[in-house]
Amino acid sequence: MNKKYSFVIVAITAATLISSCVSRGNNPGWEYAPDMYYSKGYEAYNQGDSNVVNPYGMNMREPVAGTVAYGKLDYKYPFENNGEGYEKAGELLKMPEGVSLEDGRAAYMYGIYCSPCHGNNGNNDGPVFKRVSTLKPAWKGYSDAAVMNLADGKIYHTLTYGKNNMGSHASVLTPSDRWKLVKYVKFLGSQNGAVATVAQDSTSTTK
Ligand code: HEC
Repeated sequence: MNKKYSFVIVAITAATLISSCVSRGNNPGWEYAPDMYYSKGYEAYNQGDSNVVNPYGMNMREPVAGTVAYGKLDYKYPFENNGEGYEKAGELLKMPEGVSLEDGRAAYMYGIYCSPCHGNNGNNDGPVFKRVSTLKPAWKGYSDAAVMNLADGKIYHTLTYGKNNMGSHASVLTPSDRWKLVKYVKFLGSQNGAVATVAQDSTSTTK
């Protein structure tokens, strides 16, 4: 290559590298009228400098203790993650009215989050349990009396916090999904491990 060109390339590369270092961090570079870009007002989701009034320098305030975000009331769960909480959930938590399997949501979520262990029809024959049989519960499947006679509230509690080798599913199932799955577990159990007949509508991804 021509010597002159290689010098130009080196010069451009060096210039790029150096200029990329200059405006690092909080330095916004040259600004004509910063006040027009950065609001002087406190805006919850837009923050230039550390807020001197609020805790942690945030513009956004933390929610008032004891309050619940709008539409999130059913996320409030009163029972603790221990044996006593489990028993209490079994006693006091009842399946809300109108929980239905018809929209296919329960079957769809079950296929994603439960069947890898418990199997498509709740026979504890999913690929995970097949491969690591020591993970399996003592009962054979959902049709076992151990599950069929289990209080709905206890299953909800287990879905919320997990139990032994089963992890918590609270981060992936909304409270209404959890109730649908409780119902679906009992439905699968009532089918005695036979193929599920509820329509598995994979397009039903909303609540
Ligand atoms: C990693 C494998 C795994 C996955 C995934 C899993 N489970 Fe479980 N599940 C278990 C094990 C292990 C137990 C037995 C826990 C125990 O009693 O020791 C169990 C127990 C249960 C029970 C009995 C609960 C109780 O209170 O005794 C139900 C019902 C259940 N699972 C339903 C589900 C549903 C519904 C899903 C999907 C949201 C699911 N499981 C996902 C492994 C899994």
